[in-house]
Amino acid sequence: MLNRRNFLTAAVGVAAAGGLAACAKEDKSSTGTSSGGSKAITLGFSQVGSESGWRSANTTSVKEAAKEAGFNLKFSDAQQKQENQISAIRSYIAQKVDVIAFSPVVVTGWDAVLKEAKAAKIPVVLTDRSVETSDDSLYVTLVGSDFTDEGRRAGKILEKVLAKAGVKGPVKIAQLEGTTGAAPAIERAKGFKEVMDADHKGDWKIVVSQTGDFTRAGGKQVMAAFLQSNPDINVLFAHNDDMAIGAIQSIEAAGKKPGKDILIVSIDGVKDGFIAMSEGKINAIVECNPLLGPQLMEVVKTVHDGGSVERWIKTKEGDFMQDQAKAALPTRKY
Ligand code: AHR
Repeated sequence: MLNRRNFLTAAVGVAAAGGLAACAKEDKSSTGTSSGGSKAITLGFSQVGSESGWRSANTTSVKEAAKEAGFNLKFSDAQQKQENQISAIRSYIAQKVDVIAFSPVVVTGWDAVLKEAKAAKIPVVLTDRSVETSDDSLYVTLVGSDFTDEGRRAGKILEKVLAKAGVKGPVKIAQLEGTTGAAPAIERAKGFKEVMDADHKGDWKIVVSQTGDFTRAGGKQVMAAFLQSNPDINVLFAHNDDMAIGAIQSIEAAGKKPGKDILIVSIDGVKDGFIAMSEGKINAIVECNPLLGPQLMEVVKTVHDGGSVERWIKTKEGDFMQDQAKAALPTRKY
């Protein structure tokens, strides 16, 4: 466990002000005012982009929770580019915000800018995705899901889907990966492979695997290519619902029935994913909860006030089979 005081006293070196964000779209509107007369916490938040339904729900959750907490939120959309996130973080350092939070587009390449934040004595909270760093003290905590476990859960739920469909014998799997180098893409693939290697060596095979960048357009385009090169695929594992939805369009265009000719398991649980599942086109969804805003604001306040927090604050989530979709749809919050 690490608290803000430890973090601040550990900070050494010269503060690097850095350049102002040039490329990222920054929303400069302050959302909060202090309620009790004390100065409102200023939070600089760098979002990955707006690539998926999950991301839109996450952005709304962060903005609403910041407003509710009375924080002064500086929000920036990096449009899926690491250089934009680095510029946004440097801009927040130059603006001397109280806390920086960000959802890193990829896992590597953050040490330099995180060292600048540390030297400026600004605590950094990771949200949604993790980073690989040479120095663990460069960020305070991660608020987000266990993506490796999501991959494992996808493997386990595929067992149920296959059993329900009465599929026996060899399974030819196409995998639509998330953004190359992003934590959810790396870890979901790893967790799924663990289940394959442990329990299905010899009968499950990933015959094609490529990134669709977590977008619908990417899922559609890559699935069309998969069907050309491997027309006998009988399972699709998509790292998110949006890519599954894009892939469904290509499966239908190829004259096949999604959910029947090709069984589909995806991750997220956004409303459109549930709609596709209730129409019988997705067979099962592993939930990844994007509503991280309230938890994030609590953590930001604790860290700002010098309290201690767990190193990884994990999100709670569930799994859904197709026959649960219709009942669950009306109460889905995102
Ligand atoms: O990091 C979470 C992932 O990023 C979600 O699964 C995906 O939809 C998003 O773009």
